[in-house]
Amino acid sequence: MFRLLSVASALPKCRKTNDDLSGFLDTSDEWISQRTGIRERAVCTDESLTELLTTAGKEALARAGITAQQLDLILCATIKGDYITPSQACIIQKELGAKCPAMDIGAACTGFLYALDVAAGYFVRKKVQKVLVLAGDVMSKLVDWKDRSTCVLFGDAAGAAVLGEGDALKSISLSAKGNIDFLNIPHVNGNSPFDSIPEQESFLAMNGQEVYRFAVSSICHDVKEVCKQASISISELDWLVPHQANLRIIESAAAKLKIPMEHCLTGIEILGNTSAASIPVVLDKAQSESKLKTGELLALSAFGAGLTTGACVLTW
Ligand code: ACO
Repeated sequence: MFRLLSVASALPKCRKTNDDLSGFLDTSDEWISQRTGIRERAVCTDESLTELLTTAGKEALARAGITAQQLDLILCATIKGDYITPSQACIIQKELGAKCPAMDIGAACTGFLYALDVAAGYFVRKKVQKVLVLAGDVMSKLVDWKDRSTCVLFGDAAGAAVLGEGDALKSISLSAKGNIDFLNIPHVNGNSPFDSIPEQESFLAMNGQEVYRFAVSSICHDVKEVCKQASISISELDWLVPHQANLRIIESAAAKLKIPMEHCLTGIEILGNTSAASIPVVLDKAQSESKLKTGELLALSAFGAGLTTGACVLTW
């Protein structure tokens, strides 16, 4: 079906520590780092999502040793592209000079896994040989910077992966459980004179404790499921690559799965929750630290608004 030919990422240049946030919010480095593991995050100042994704996409193409013209499909996982239309994937297709079909995938923090599964279908149908999967969000524009319970959790980033034909994907599983109450970002109203729905602010709202419980149980369930589908035991995994939302979620799920933290990839400490970008960004960080070796078995696992979840087993 497919294998990963390359992974790359891009971050905005501005970094903000917890102490920086406590300068204008009633919060502290102690609260944020103890409850979440986050110490700092990158936030966009003058960068757009398009710029971040284009940088990550170009680097992924260069690392895979292919040109944009060789791509057969571009998928972009994002909560909110720079435009409502055209899709973010179409914008990046133009930026890269590619000629292939392009579309967005909306599955919040699980978007990268959803995109991998969509890509897998194209490989099975032999419609594609090279696919660019992009994932990125500018969460700093979607949170309320007066709400200390949410804004401290997120960061901005983009990730990209080039997929080529191969047999690295051993299993993949997705789920959705429609739920607006635990996590949502409402749409802004237009100015229709006929619209009677009251205006609402368009900021992320979250029931942190419910999402926390859902996250731990879904990682455990999904990783067991994809290992079963791949006919491997959890102890055979070299790396757990979880969505980076809270270090305590990762530690709790890893403990329940009996996976030592030394076998979990993390980047939450310096990135915060980067939504759809979280998994490719943490993979790129790990490869830059020479942690990943060819042939190693990885379980990727994500959860997010929807509520969506996804996991897969693949070889590096
Ligand atoms: N600084 C200081 N105090 C704070 C802050 C802050 N930044 N935020 C909240 N508090 C206070 C609260 O007001 C509360 O005070 P009170 O007891 O006086 O009322 C206290 O800290 C405890 O708040 P809780 O919400 O109970 O804290 P909790 O331990 O549950 O941690 C957290 C909150 C970190 C959000 C946790 O619930 C969590 O990580 N949940 C999961 C989040 C997640 O995974 N989100 C995924 C998003 S994915 C996507 O698709 C976008």
